[in-house]
Amino acid sequence: MTTSAPGAAGLADHWALLGLAVEAGREAAQLVRDRRPHGRVEVAATKSSDTDPVTEIDRASESLIRDRLLTLRPDDGFVGEEDLTVEGTSGVEWVVDPIDGTVNFVYGIPAYAVSIAARRDGEVVAGFVVNVADRREWGAVLGGGAHRLDGTRRPIVAPDPPAVSGLLVATGFGYDPEVRAAQGRSVAQLLPQVRDIRRMGAAALDLCALADGSVDAYVERGLAIWDHAAAGLVATEAGCVLSGLDGSPDQRLVMGAHAAVAEEFFALVRACDF
Ligand code: IPD
Repeated sequence: MTTSAPGAAGLADHWALLGLAVEAGREAAQLVRDRRPHGRVEVAATKSSDTDPVTEIDRASESLIRDRLLTLRPDDGFVGEEDLTVEGTSGVEWVVDPIDGTVNFVYGIPAYAVSIAARRDGEVVAGFVVNVADRREWGAVLGGGAHRLDGTRRPIVAPDPPAVSGLLVATGFGYDPEVRAAQGRSVAQLLPQVRDIRRMGAAALDLCALADGSVDAYVERGLAIWDHAAAGLVATEAGCVLSGLDGSPDQRLVMGAHAAVAEEFFALVRACDF
């Protein structure tokens, strides 16, 4: 992920974009809370595979976010998980996951999030993530740090990690059966070499947990940009390093760890054939 330092005007612009993301994200989170029925949520359709659900509430959340942001900034672009793509002309593009952790949402496991990132000329400059179920919020601006935003705003600095053999590693599995099988083989290699693995079910929350120090490292193959754009900035602004297999994080691989153990962890991930 790029780490160019913005000037004062750039930083003010990033904070302004974060402010809009926070407003739209909180409203969407409220919609998701209000509309979620008790028990299991009905799946409206499936996407990349039979296990990849979309609900009417995902669609409503994405529409709300797009309408709020593009009403205020009609020249911006928009990329959302549920396909509401809009080409913009301003150089700013919003990257949105209206519910990250949809399977948790469907089953009522309280770990699903609204995630909104703003990219300027392709670089993520602001990101907001809210866990809909427990209302915890994370926000970051490029060059301005990572912060918890629920309650009083407070900076987040990822705590010093243990040695690689002591890392608690978050991971996830995609929806494609073949990719899952490969992920399972890689996790089987990694598991005996670290403290343990966690699969919590929402990549955005995994990366915020990395920033907070609730886990020490993260690795996943097959993520889409809306899964990691906002929370990836939270993690890097908190002092973690994010990488892909060779270069920037991408669909092939996203891995992250505190800067103090990043290179060693990344080497281990590569050795485990992720
Ligand atoms: C999924 C979650 C999950 C991860 C998958 C993602 P979705 O996003 O982030 O934790 O393992 O790779 O696709 O479909 O719930 O928005």
